Amino acid sequence: MTKDQSTLFDHPEGYGSVSRALHWLMAALFAWQFLSAILHAVDREMPAARFFWSWHISVGFLLLLAVVLRGAWALINLGNRPAHATGFLGAAARLGHLALYLLMLVVPLLATLRAYGSGRGLSVFGIQVFAGGGERIPALVEPGSALHGLLGWALLILVAGHVIMALAHTYLWREDTLRRMLRGRPAPITRIE
Ligand code: HEM
Repeated sequence: MTKDQSTLFDHPEGYGSVSRALHWLMAALFAWQFLSAILHAVDREMPAARFFWSWHISVGFLLLLAVVLRGAWALINLGNRPAHATGFLGAAARLGHLALYLLMLVVPLLATLRAYGSGRGLSVFGIQVFAGGGERIPALVEPGSALHGLLGWALLILVAGHVIMALAHTYLWREDTLRRMLRGRPAPITRIE
């Protein structure tokens, strides 16, 4: 079976099952992650804030792994995905998606490097990623402390813009933007000899 025949891969008329699964899994994890950050910022002593915050590191690290997979899959499918519109809106969408990928990578990466540099180690869902007891490395801690939260909020604003634009394309301008990510690519045509 070729790339064009398999529904796993993307197609100019819709995304394949791998891209869609990663997209909606990450959307759910980001919703959880931003809820934990918002509750923590409002009142970190609240029981709901404590509960959600207790998962912040594990869910954040999972998002780091997911974005690496998603970026690699996007590169494999490059040139075979739905094209952006032409003109200003298309250029804005291209730039917005690039910024989304960049922040989705940089935000959890800065926090992970900070955890490594702190020498305290990192465990994710009870599994040790790296052990503590190392020396403190200020060059790894400081960028995370200065930028992780700030860029995290910038990512929230970008995600909100992304959702608003996807809904506007679909319900205001009657385009099939959402369908391409919900129902995916059309079924491949199989020729009967
Ligand atoms: C894409 C994933 C992530 C997002 C969107 C995110 C977002 C945020 C946001 C918005 C804040 C500020 C909360 C506040 O002001 O109360 C924050 C804080 C924090 N995050 Fe994350 N985070 C992510 C991943 C991670 C990871 C992987 C770790 C640890 C390895 C982590 C550890 C922390 C810690 C310790 C804080 C409190 C200190 C600070 O504000 O820098 N986060 N995060």
